[in-house]
Amino acid sequence: MATPHNSAEIGDIAERVLLPGDPVRAKIIAKNFLSDVKQYNEVRNMYGFTGKYKGVPVSIQGTGMGIPSFAIYVSELINVYGAKKLIRVGTCGGMHPNLNLREVFIASGASTDSSIVEKTFGGAINFSLIADFDLLSRAVANARNLNIPVKVGNVISGDRFYNDYNDKDGVYSANGLTLNEKMIQYGIMAIEMETAALYLLAAGAQLQSLAIFTVSDHIIRDEHATAAERETDFNDMVKIALETVIQK
Ligand code: HPA
Repeated sequence: MATPHNSAEIGDIAERVLLPGDPVRAKIIAKNFLSDVKQYNEVRNMYGFTGKYKGVPVSIQGTGMGIPSFAIYVSELINVYGAKKLIRVGTCGGMHPNLNLREVFIASGASTDSSIVEKTFGGAINFSLIADFDLLSRAVANARNLNIPVKVGNVISGDRFYNDYNDKDGVYSANGLTLNEKMIQYGIMAIEMETAALYLLAAGAQLQSLAIFTVSDHIIRDEHATAAERETDFNDMVKIALETVIQK
């Protein structure tokens, strides 16, 4: 049974799924890292592939950008196709001075300005959006084995790429701090746009999820990786994600 967004039949998608935002990245991962690849989706060009990594079935599904798009694909992976282990592989904008351009960053937790969490709990609690501990600890260990340095911490999943977080007259201002400054004070390391939904949906379904990033930009220092650097960094991150997603 296909969905309006995914033409895969039940059984076409593996229990272990990597989730790049960019569907073209999904194609590149499948081509460069998997064997026995079969494409199961091209609806809206949001490509999805299933293949094998070291003999283990793995799917790679593009999600698009932002929580609403991401949540459509991931809700269907979970509720229709039976996905069990979900690892987002994406880019993020570094914010914190302790996180540097081109580093691999793993989100142990996510904060968000999206209403998705509030609506899930009717505003009664501020639910903590956290990574699965087994996936997180294995990803850190796998990165060490691969000699790829990683940092771990809190990410902000923002609803707006173009926002007023650094504007003193913007969405928030207290003690003369911008929202970016306040978030950095509280240890938020980086910004992206999807992980809060991943950790929320996985928690609700009692599944394992993790988000791994490469720092493609540092938004406070105004630094930006080149296209060639992004490709190398992306491959490092994918290796960590694939080694982690295939473990028992
Ligand atoms: N903002 C939001 N999402 C991002 C960014 C950013 O600067 N860089 C990569 N993903």
